[in-house]
Amino acid sequence: MKKLTQVEFKERRDRLAELMGPHSIAIIATSPVAMRNRDADYKYRTDSSFFYLTGFAEPEAVAVIETYESIDEGYTYSLFCRERNREMEIWNGYRAGIDGAIEQYEADEAYAIDLLDEEILEKLLDKDQLFYRIGQNAEFDARVAKWIAAANGESRRRGTSAPAQVVQLDRLVDEMRLHKDTKELELMQIAADISAEAHTRAMQTVRPGMMEYALEAELNYVFGRNGCVPSYNSIVGGGENACILHYVENDKELKDGDLVLIDAACEYQFYASDITRTFPVNGKFSPEQKALYNLVLDAQIAAINAVQIGNSYKEPHHVAVRILVQGLLDLGIMQGDLDEIIASESYRQFYMHGTGHWLGMDVHDVGTYKVDGEWRVYEAGMVVTVEPGLYIAPDDETVDPKWRGIGIRIEDDIVATKNGPLNLTAKVVKTVDEIEALMAAAQ
Ligand code: GLY
Ligand code: MN
Ligand code: MN
Repeated sequence: MKKLTQVEFKERRDRLAELMGPHSIAIIATSPVAMRNRDADYKYRTDSSFFYLTGFAEPEAVAVIETYESIDEGYTYSLFCRERNREMEIWNGYRAGIDGAIEQYEADEAYAIDLLDEEILEKLLDKDQLFYRIGQNAEFDARVAKWIAAANGESRRRGTSAPAQVVQLDRLVDEMRLHKDTKELELMQIAADISAEAHTRAMQTVRPGMMEYALEAELNYVFGRNGCVPSYNSIVGGGENACILHYVENDKELKDGDLVLIDAACEYQFYASDITRTFPVNGKFSPEQKALYNLVLDAQIAAINAVQIGNSYKEPHHVAVRILVQGLLDLGIMQGDLDEIIASESYRQFYMHGTGHWLGMDVHDVGTYKVDGEWRVYEAGMVVTVEPGLYIAPDDETVDPKWRGIGIRIEDDIVATKNGPLNLTAKVVKTVDEIEALMAAAQ
């Protein structure tokens, strides 16, 4: 099984320590356990940035990085985590413990998580800046505020210093995460391949009369068989349900003559994929479905081609919108002037979302979209989704009834490379002919 090693996690900590500068401390907490109902919890998923820097996936953990006078003196990486406990491990599973934090996770120092309040004070003294993710967790924010106050008091007594500045840690880590290296892209390719297999299976197994959740189960089977979980709640929307952008009920029947929109994908080793395909429940597109589908596909292919190094993040959106609006005019679904429709954004009646977002450890990944007020440009190793769509509301009386209730989105995961856009999700078919052939072969 391909996974990252401590070599990679250490390189990331090295880079972060350098970016932090001298006399600094970073405090990075993982996510709290989330309860689902009463005493049943959600399966634990570590915080992405915490894992990015540590490779440590257990709950109740805090990483601390301390720098000194100069980076030549190195830095200290401390991991606060749960202690080993035979009784708890029998009930709830293995813990690395203090020795494991040092031996397996290469912490310079490791402490029981219960000692955090006590130990952190010493670490805050003699530091000028504290890097911390402010606003992620109100409870942890309150603890950090208390530590700063205590460190200030103690520093006055001892005649030393305490952090005078609290800096948003995400500014540094998000920028690191935005640019994916070769090893990360290998993991994203695996996630994409498994998700592509799941979509292929969905096209092969769908039948009129099936329930949306039964089709979702076909996807989950492929994810689960590969040791993966969905990277977000799956959308399986038949017919007009495809016009509800975040439809996750997935509890209706899939009808003969309708399309089904599936937006579903898995994460592998904490790296996400994000795929949407739309296809006919009975294996054959109607003329109206085909016309709208080909329009979305033309827009998507052109938008993918716009993911070029140096292009603005927004370029794929502009390209997609122009093609979609021209197509809606040609089909008589919209009337008016192309440029006016684009300028007034009246096309939002049919296309109301953006064309993509950063993708990485989180499905809507970190990284700013603007720098100094300007859309940022694509750089090598950035991964973006390209996902135009068209949604004709079932009750839209401005449109000929034959178009109503059709919702289509096509989404792929694209890496900006010096050789142009690289499509990680190309393995799942998307032309009308390819989809119909695949589905016919599975009848
Ligand atoms: N699946 C979430 C999205 O496409 O943004
Ligand atoms: Mn997406
Ligand atoms: Mn999606």
